[in-house]
Amino acid sequence: MKPLIVALDGNDHHARALESRLGVERAGATIRRFPDGESYVRLEEESCEGREAIVVASLDRPDAKVTQMLMVAETLRDLGVRRIGLVAPYLAYMRQDKRFHPGEGLTSRYFGRLVSRHFDWMACVEPHLHRYDSLDEVYDIPTRHIRATDPMADWVRRELETPILVGPDDESSQWVERVAEAAGAPHVILEKIRHGDRDVDISVSGVPFEQWGDRTPVLLDDIISTGGTMAETVRLLRERGAGDPVCLGVHAIMVGEADAKLREAGASRVVTTNTIDHPSNAIDVQDVLAEAVDGLIA
Ligand code: R5P
Repeated sequence: MKPLIVALDGNDHHARALESRLGVERAGATIRRFPDGESYVRLEEESCEGREAIVVASLDRPDAKVTQMLMVAETLRDLGVRRIGLVAPYLAYMRQDKRFHPGEGLTSRYFGRLVSRHFDWMACVEPHLHRYDSLDEVYDIPTRHIRATDPMADWVRRELETPILVGPDDESSQWVERVAEAAGAPHVILEKIRHGDRDVDISVSGVPFEQWGDRTPVLLDDIISTGGTMAETVRLLRERGAGDPVCLGVHAIMVGEADAKLREAGASRVVTTNTIDHPSNAIDVQDVLAEAVDGLIA
């Protein structure tokens, strides 16, 4: 029997793409919230016994979604599903990968353990791997780190004649170097010091702006959250006389008016992949997502 797919609210586009590319079957399901915010879950499948299931849940603004995702997984298990995979186009809780201050929770680890207890495998697009080298350091189940760098490089090649890729901080080099190479463009990595959730300093010292000529700077990062990192970088590049930058992000978390903030700072375009539904989505990751899931289903 084909694997069943269940999508949390806001994940229809991912579920439809997996359905059409992999021939998995969309489960009849009612997933809603009671007026007090608690989740109601009902699966309308005749037979779940012995089947495989995929839960699709992009986990931006995660706390309420995580409870619902676990309730769906438990319902599936209770109804006899034998193997459940989680497809999280955006995977939350990767940030606290170190105890930065005494007494802090290592929430990336706790979240990894929690997901590993409820699911048999997990796939996500460009997880925020900073101090971890791989998801295996946090997850006890088979995982797939799906790269968005090829679809992003395709977009850069298609849309920009002479780009230069710019990474705002050291950890962005993992995406910037790949996209730059695939797009045949030069790149530069800046330095960032984070002072707080919304307060960052970027250093552009030593960047050879005079050699950039007419190149279009493409700022590339995994997450655009408050937009603070990119807005500050846009501001500095414009101050140094670089052309109006394009802001390219994998995950459009976009807290508040983050994209407006970037345009106000001087970005010519704000472009993201469709891991999180947002008006800035212009890069489709459904093919790479489906390919990874195909390798995980039995
Ligand atoms: C952090 O290390 C990430 O790679 C991003 O740079 C960060 O999440 C961006 O956040 P914000 O948009 O709030 O500056």
